[in-house]
Amino acid sequence: MNGFETVLYEKHQSVAHVTLNRPQALNAYNVQMRDDLYEVLSAIRVDDEARVVVFSGAGEKAFCAGADLREFLTAPSAVKARKIRAVRDLWKLFFSMPQPLIAALHGYVLGSGIEISLFCDIRIASEDVVFGLPEVGLGILPAAGATQTLPRVLGLAGSLDMLLTGRRLTGQEALAMGLVNKLVPRDKLMETAEEMAKKIASYHPAVVQNAKQAVRRGMDLPLDQGLELESRLASQIKR
Ligand code: COA
Repeated sequence: MNGFETVLYEKHQSVAHVTLNRPQALNAYNVQMRDDLYEVLSAIRVDDEARVVVFSGAGEKAFCAGADLREFLTAPSAVKARKIRAVRDLWKLFFSMPQPLIAALHGYVLGSGIEISLFCDIRIASEDVVFGLPEVGLGILPAAGATQTLPRVLGLAGSLDMLLTGRRLTGQEALAMGLVNKLVPRDKLMETAEEMAKKIASYHPAVVQNAKQAVRRGMDLPLDQGLELESRLASQIKR
């Protein structure tokens, strides 16, 4: 699987690597990237050999500087955008991925960049990382779930602070707030992500996927239903 315009895909042993690849535009998210990611994730989703997925950004300056603002100015109407989303909902696909997703973040992680990382289960960042949600200041709402996914990670206060003020967070702030799991030197970023991915990939895939599902789905359930879910998922594991 290869030959995408905006995304690089590789698989090393059981770890799939998806690299956002528009470094000349700081990996800004455009329609082509949406289509490429949709295709790549659809394939990974059903690939038993891909046990963990690592997302990263090409180039020195950014994981992703948000939506492509040049394309944004020529975007189709809201009605057309909604229709496209109904048939090709990348964010729903991200959310439905059974494998653990790890985001390896460096440089600018803005707008859709943060939103992609919030669909990941683990976020590792390098010390040069800069997070921000500039949407409200640009007169729009985040379109890829941040109003829902961010509070589930940061809680109410931190999310509203980021969203309403658009202020940027350093890596240290992001670590203190719990937005990232780990902060590492830039030259250790991919190595750290790879190491973590390999460790998870060495565990029984059904156990790993059910554990992810139990936590992810359980977050949105009352405790008694969450406990039932856990017990159901545990009983599915064959020994
Ligand atoms: N969409 C399209 N192109 C983008 C982009 C975006 N979101 N972000 C950066 N680029 C492009 C720039 O236009 C520039 O292209 P050029 O070399 O052809 O002029 C290139 O990427 C490098 O960006 P530049 O602005 O020169 O880098 P910088 O280090 O001076 O600034 C940022 C980096 C991230 C602060 C700045 O690019 C920026 O503010 N980008 C927009 C962020 C944003 O608001 N995203 C939308 C979220 S909804």
